[in-house]
Parts: sequence; structure tokens; C-alpha cells
Amino acid sequence: DAGSSGNLIGMGQMMGGNRTIVLDESGQAMTALRLPELAEPDSESATEITYTVTAQAGETAFLDGETTQTLGYNGSYLGPVLVVREGQEVHIKTENQLAEATSFHWHGVKLPSDMDGGPHHPVSPNETMQVDFTVKQEAATLWFHPHALGTTAKQVYAGLAGLIFVEDDNSDQLDLPKDYGVNDFPLIVQDRTFDADNQFDYEGTYNPDGTYGDTLLVNGTINPYVAVKNELIRLRLVNGSNARNYTFGLENAATFHQIASDGGFLEQPVTLTSVTLTPGERAEIIVDLSAYSEGETLKLMDGNATVLSLNITEETDVQKTLPATLNDIPEPTTEGAAVKQFTLSGMSFMVNINGNQFDMNRIDSEQRLNETVIWEVHNAQDMMGSMVHPFHIHGVQFQVLSRDGVEPPQNEQGWKDTVAVYPGETVRLAVTFSEKGVFMYHCHILEHEDNGMMAQVSVQ
Ligand code: C2O
Ligand code: CU
Ligand code: CU
Repeated sequence: DAGSSGNLIGMGQMMGGNRTIVLDESGQAMTALRLPELAEPDSESATEITYTVTAQAGETAFLDGETTQTLGYNGSYLGPVLVVREGQEVHIKTENQLAEATSFHWHGVKLPSDMDGGPHHPVSPNETMQVDFTVKQEAATLWFHPHALGTTAKQVYAGLAGLIFVEDDNSDQLDLPKDYGVNDFPLIVQDRTFDADNQFDYEGTYNPDGTYGDTLLVNGTINPYVAVKNELIRLRLVNGSNARNYTFGLENAATFHQIASDGGFLEQPVTLTSVTLTPGERAEIIVDLSAYSEGETLKLMDGNATVLSLNITEETDVQKTLPATLNDIPEPTTEGAAVKQFTLSGMSFMVNINGNQFDMNRIDSEQRLNETVIWEVHNAQDMMGSMVHPFHIHGVQFQVLSRDGVEPPQNEQGWKDTVAVYPGETVRLAVTFSEKGVFMYHCHILEHEDNGMMAQVSVQ
């Protein structure tokens, strides 16, 4: 099971100095969770918003001692949160200050493919590219990352990833925790390996089936805690890892409520004790801390590893209850819909879709604008073995119809742009593109993507 989390050694092994103040119960130093900044727009009106996003190199202090050479957007590691509204015209000046080509891909955004920043749209060093689109989708937590041909995995590993929060009338009106950094926290979860000089050891740990790290980073923080009140806390979980799957849960298997999947709110909160996210997937969850008192903690876990400690440092009398209804998601209309097959197979440098490896000059599939097609995605188990492939489609939010003929769990009945396909499994998706162009679909294990487990659909 190459996808399971295993033991994250290295957590809390650092921070030997005396600058930390919070220790966990085993005496390990904890660090205050870093929060991505909300990006400052260059200009903003009700109908338009303009941002600049610069890919740049920098140095980040993750550990005591040497800083780590990293990449980031508008900073040294990760990027800011771009907040946009449904209906707004968005203008993003993207700028490449790296020493090599990159691209700026808006994962989960429904936009024309010439704006989507896939491998057809590299930005050379010291070049800029203007990205313009109108937000034609509902409130969701989306993200952005590089996608240049063959370099996605190592550039993401080095730190290139940022967030997009889409807001709309529904998210305005819903009585949910939305105080950024107070009761609403994005958690970009990644795993990295540091070498003896505190540098990311991508090359030394490279695995063509997905590079795993031994140290967990949350928003670039090792062994993080966050100080909160005993209220409802919203965590926007983003699996930003190259390859590792996470099964998030709370200490003592306490329940939580999932309120959103990749592309927006679920119809109703779904009560769970764990949620698994493969690379690229997101889930927003609500943790109810009302039964806790000042001085107590509750940990978000991945199996046996601590992801984040919620430290209750203040009590409040104002308690929210979760809205019973969050969204209205239409039933997919699949009557008479065509069915197309996509088979994921191979391992390592041989990974492929329908027997083909990625070729920028080949269109692998065609679909009409606004036509619903059932994509039947099969993970072939062959002699080479197989693993979970997170299947992602650009430019669209789709619905999961079934897993091996069975209705998907409730928390997968909302909008998705990435879906886990387990070995031997067949997952049926209802896919309706509302934007034209040539869109990528691929495995979101970034090494698989770079190694050719990617193809393209032309939507006209
Ligand atoms: Cu998040 Cu084509 O990727
Ligand atoms: Cu994408
Ligand atoms: Cu894969």
C-alpha cells in the first residue's frame, strides 16, 4: 500500500534551540501554524479584481540552523490566498522570476483552456503572462500550482502552491466559521525530506511512483499548533503532497462534519470520523470544540501522526450551530449520455492512460460543450502492480456517479475535480464542460503526471 501514510518520522525532531515555547505531551517543540496571507489585490471593485502572482526563489526557515532553498508565490514558500467572487472578472498578472520555465495552473477553476496554465502555456524566466477569466462557479476552496511539461513534481515540491477561495451569495449567507486565521484555517498538507544541510532532498528521495517525505509540513510548518476558542473551527484541508494520501481524523476518533468537497459545499454536513484525501483533493471540515475548556487540546491526525494541535486558549459563550442545508446540488442528467472509458495502468515510467503516454500533439478525447458524458475511469491491476491514482480533470467540476457500481459515500456526492481510483476499481463520473479548449486529465501523483499519465480532451 504505497499510498498509506506510514510513520512520519522527523516530526518534532527539530527546533532544538530555545525559541519555541509550546511543547506537546511527549516534550516535542511545537510551532505556531503559519497562515498563508490573503493576497492584497492590485485593484478591486464589485465586478473586477486584479492580482499579481510572482513565482520566485527564496529561503525558508523550517528548522533551526540553515534555511532551506525554496520556491514560492509572492514569498519564499507556498503562496497567498486569492479571494474571488462568483461573477467577478479576475485579472492575474503572472510573472516568472525563476531560473527555469514554469506555468500557472488554476486547479478546479472553470475557465477557457488558454487561461488554464497547463503544459501548453509555459512562462519563460523573466516573462509575464496575463490571465483573465470570469468566475463562473460557486464558493469553493481551489488551488494553483505549476504545470509545465515534466517539471510539475519538482516545482511543487520546492514550494509552488497557493490557494483560491471562491465566495458567493450562498457562502455569504451561510452561518459558518469564516473569520480567517481565527476559526477558519486552510491547511496545505505536504510531506518533505530534509537532508543533513536542511535542504529539501527531492533528488535523493525521488520515486517515479511518487516521492514521499518523512516530515509533515502544514502550510510550511513542522509540528504545528494553533490557538483557538472552544467554538466551531473550519479547516480547509488541501492535500498538496506530490504522492502521499492522508486519512484525516481527530484524536480518539471524535466526529467532525465535512461541509465541502473540491468544488463547493455539500448539500448537508456529513458526519465522519475520517476523511481520506489523495493528492489534489480538498475537504472542508468543521470541528466542534464547544465541549472543550481552556487549556485542553484536540489533535487532527493522519493515522498515528499528528497533523495539527488545536489548543483551546479561550472560552466563548457564543456557540454557532451548523446549518442543516449548505447547498443545492442538481442530480446529474445522464439519460442517454455517451460513456467513455479511461483505463489507468502501468507503474513507474510506464504509467499511461488507455495505453498512451502524454503527447502534447495528440488529442485523446473529444467532447461537446455542455454535453454530459459519463467517464468510466478504471484502475487496471496488472502484473506490474498498481496503486491508488487520483484522477483529475482540468476546467470542470464533475459528479461521482458510482464506485464499482455502488453509490459513492455522501461526502463524495458534491462537486469534485479530483477523485481517488483504487486498484481494480471503476469509478463513473458525470462530466460536463462549460468552457472550450483543450483540457488535461491526469493522475495527480505528480511524478505520474510528469511521467506521462496524462492526456487531453478537446471541448468544442
Ligand atoms: Cu492540480 Cu493538472 O493539476
Ligand atoms: Cu488542475
Ligand atoms: Cu498515478
